[in-house]
Amino acid sequence: MTTPSPASPPAPTVLVTGATRGIGAAIATALEARGARVVRHGSRVGPGVIGADLADPQAPQALWRDALGAAGGTIDVLVNNAGLFAANPLDASDIAWLDAFEDTVRINLTAAAQLSRFAVRHWQERGFAGRCVHVASRAGYRGDSPAHWHYAAAKGGMIAMHKTIARGYAAQGILSFAITPGFTDTAMAGNYLASRGGAGLLADIPLGRVATPDEIATIATFCALDAPPSMTGTTIDANGASYVR
Ligand SMILES: NC(=O)c1ccc[n+]([C@@H]2O[C@H](COP(=O)([O-])OP(=O)(O)OC[C@H]3O[C@@H](n4cnc5c(N)ncnc54)[C@H](OP(=O)(O)O)[C@@H]3O)[C@@H](O)[C@H]2O)c1
Repeated sequence: MTTPSPASPPAPTVLVTGATRGIGAAIATALEARGARVVRHGSRVGPGVIGADLADPQAPQALWRDALGAAGGTIDVLVNNAGLFAANPLDASDIAWLDAFEDTVRINLTAAAQLSRFAVRHWQERGFAGRCVHVASRAGYRGDSPAHWHYAAAKGGMIAMHKTIARGYAAQGILSFAITPGFTDTAMAGNYLASRGGAGLLADIPLGRVATPDEIATIATFCALDAPPSMTGTTIDANGASYVR
């Protein structure tokens, strides 16, 4: 008689924001390859994608509700990846500069905070462990170009928020991880490199190349599924040694 093997634990369910392209799509694909159930989000509804424009202050609440519905009531991991990288020249009009600043902070930081809060409360109410993974940026430590005050400020805020979540809820099994990529070869980075003189920027990266979305996805998958709980609060760099803390 063979001994029945113990039932395998249910596959974790992961909400990945900004999963339509770039780093988020790579993260979603990598998680699925590991057996996770992935709920994908983008700014607009699409096949297999929950749409929510995170520039709208009410969108994170609707997204969380719809994602829980799609997941059957339980989400184990939240990956805050959606982000906007749009130049905001200092000589824009006062109101245009302010609007652009607030849009970027809302999409890149406030929406991630709202979703993290819903996730933490979900895990607290149900009494089970959960993980947040925040895709921040090297800019959060190093700063960014003169047209990207807002982007650097939002990513710096995300790193501080992540540390606060890690310290606040570790005793309840709620963990938080952050990733700080440098340039990563997506549409977002391509536009930036082109606007800054292209390949010349590579001279600042000792590795000699930008990161790939798959490299960031490998780190995100580790944080979402594998990282030991003692790593909570950590921030993992991926920048080819262009900024060494
Ligand atoms: N690429 C880099 O060099 C780099 C470096 C450091 C950090 N990061 C960070 O990594 C993350 C992903 O970047 P990426 O390069 O993969 O970007 P990307 O290719 O431009 O994709 C951005 C993703 O975010 C979503 N998104 C953008 N604005 C949104 C909004 N208002 N509402 C809802 N969703 C929105 C997009 O959805 P739609 O497709 O529906 O528009 C898309 O899925 C971002 O947080 C970014 O700041 C990127």
